[in-house]
Amino acid sequence: MQTVNEKEFPLESEVGALATPPSGVRGAIPVEKTTHATLHQVDWNDLPFGKYVSDHMFICRYKAGEWQEPKVQPFQNLSLAPTALALHYGQSVFEGMKAFRMHDGAINIFRIEKHHERLNASLRRMCMPSIPYGLFAAALQQLVRVDEAWVPEGEDVALYLRPLVFASEAKFGVKISDEYLFLVITGPVHTLYQKPIRIKAERHYIRAAKGGTGFAKCAGNYGGAFYATQKAKEEGFDNILWLDACGHEYVEESGTMNLLFVVDGKLVTPPVSDTILNGVTRDCLLQLAAGMGIPVEERPVGISEIVDGLQGGRLTEAFGAGTAAVVAPVSTIGIDDQLYELPTYNEDNVMFRLKKALEDLRSGRTEDRFGWNNVV
Ligand SMILES: Cc1ncc(COP(=O)(O)O)c(C=O)c1O
Repeated sequence: MQTVNEKEFPLESEVGALATPPSGVRGAIPVEKTTHATLHQVDWNDLPFGKYVSDHMFICRYKAGEWQEPKVQPFQNLSLAPTALALHYGQSVFEGMKAFRMHDGAINIFRIEKHHERLNASLRRMCMPSIPYGLFAAALQQLVRVDEAWVPEGEDVALYLRPLVFASEAKFGVKISDEYLFLVITGPVHTLYQKPIRIKAERHYIRAAKGGTGFAKCAGNYGGAFYATQKAKEEGFDNILWLDACGHEYVEESGTMNLLFVVDGKLVTPPVSDTILNGVTRDCLLQLAAGMGIPVEERPVGISEIVDGLQGGRLTEAFGAGTAAVVAPVSTIGIDDQLYELPTYNEDNVMFRLKKALEDLRSGRTEDRFGWNNVV
């Protein structure tokens, strides 16, 4: 039986070693190829989020205190006991990341380290075992290599990567699971939104409270957000603008995106906290902005500041930032039954300059001075 420890998979400090495929059985991830490839069924001109899953998946189990038997296998259903603990008590954590086709045809898995760091922060919060960096990186690299042909080429498209860890132990009774599955599944996608979005400031329902799990990418945060989001959609909005749980006044984030604003020419966004997901795209945009000479302010943003800023013409841009959406311009914000329209955007806007800088870096058109790209 192959078990996983830090000796078999390179440590974070040895990440460069992963640029070459793991070879040999020990330390490498075995691959079982599918005999029923579905790649030919993909309409590459129509890649809505979630329509396609690639032919293979990564799977590894945690048992007896160790991650064991990592492998890449054909995408398939799982067999689980109805008592599998994740189904009852919600120990389930995931990540969302992307692999991009670079301008020279190479494939780039973007910001593996940052996603790994956040995955382990989520796992810790949910009392789940951490994933060694070497295992995480090797799993992604091996899977993306095997399904290389699934990485789309062109603007605003990518292979979405979904690492998922959940409690698989079969047991009645409320307890921390002793067994887990770590999976990675993938699928080609276009960016989430094709046009500017309308968001509703939610004054009643909340997403996260101080001391809770808001910063973790755990399944319950999403299930808990569905009800208010569905109501907002019925009212004609695309998503919620979540507010703080105490006073329902300060901006937190939006659905699967962090929120950023341009006020008086400065890029303004709430600081991350235990109620806000530490978005990787947000982090990229803030670092890129600083390098482009755009002033950045991480500070609380109140709903009243948004209303005043829009009425006085000082707030000129609002947008979401996330792996799935990349940059999503906001056209309308609903606040207390009033609709506030943002100015019409053009390509000189800060958000589009930042999006372009991010895309240029990811595609290899500009230098990767932050070390974010992992070329497979
Ligand atoms: C709740 C939430 N906030 C923000 C984000 C944006 O984070 P990232 O840029 O890492 O995708 C996401 C998406 O992962 C999310 O689910």
